[in-house]
Amino acid sequence: MKGIILAGGAGSRLFPLTLVASKQLQPVYDKPMVYYALTTLIENGVREFCLISTPRDLPRFRQLLGTGASWGLSIDYREQARPAGIAQAFLIAESFIGGDPVTLILGDNIFYGADSFKRAFAEFQGGASIFGYRVTDPDRYGVVEFDETGRAVSIEEKPKAPRSNYAVPGLYLYDNQVVETTRNLRPSARGELEITDVNIAYMRRGQLRVHKLSRGFAWLDAGTSSSLHEASAYVQTIEKRQGIKIGCPEEAAFRRGFVGREDLEKLAGRMPNCEYRDYLLRVVAEAGR
Ligand code: TTP
Repeated sequence: MKGIILAGGAGSRLFPLTLVASKQLQPVYDKPMVYYALTTLIENGVREFCLISTPRDLPRFRQLLGTGASWGLSIDYREQARPAGIAQAFLIAESFIGGDPVTLILGDNIFYGADSFKRAFAEFQGGASIFGYRVTDPDRYGVVEFDETGRAVSIEEKPKAPRSNYAVPGLYLYDNQVVETTRNLRPSARGELEITDVNIAYMRRGQLRVHKLSRGFAWLDAGTSSSLHEASAYVQTIEKRQGIKIGCPEEAAFRRGFVGREDLEKLAGRMPNCEYRDYLLRVVAEAGR
């Protein structure tokens, strides 16, 4: 499965932080925000990526992530001229997607919780798979309603009167129909190609699967200064307590077998003397035992 990381947008709620660097380049505790999304997809076996961002910010992402080769990945880059909707990503990345299924992740979504997406990736055979996560403020998101059997019966974008507390997080899996489905969409009242409309189209065809995420799972969105701060605090708490890192693409690539132990050691060796390097060297040492 191919992977799209969508990292454009205006980032207006984080002004003035986003005056010179995009939201997804901001630090979440000890690493750039986009590392978390990238790691989530690597953990689920994705190796071929397309990162989409604004013409202003794309060069910075290239500088940060490069070709991906040293992590055993390939990363293509594409511009989104203006934020015309999340679903526009499928049109921008059409030649990258080719004839394959594709997963899209929003670059400002942070997920933590062992193996939560594993089943969805493993069982994906076609159609669309999305997730439902219980939140207190569903009206800020796409909201999914279930019937008694657990089947999704409605999805609404930022509804004034939400029909459930289940928000749809920014990670979606689609078969290759997604490009054609998006092409047939009309922009919404706010002038965007809506990911919710893509999901509704799949639901109407009876091809949408919604996996409920478990209670202990963490989905953080880092779009406002206070949620950005909370995300940093959360990451710091877990990392300090457990002595592990969340959102470390080098480690994820190693654990998936995309790079070997020696490659990881070399990668760490090229880093300046810092806590991140020490961590990777510890991963190398522990793997050698
Ligand atoms: P939002 O958080 O809804 O928008 P934003 O990032 O522009 O922030 P703000 O509302 O503060 O101006 O977008 C969710 C994610 O999707 C975010 O990672 C940016 C990304 N995005 C794009 O890359 N292109 C788009 O056209 C849209 C709508 C969103």
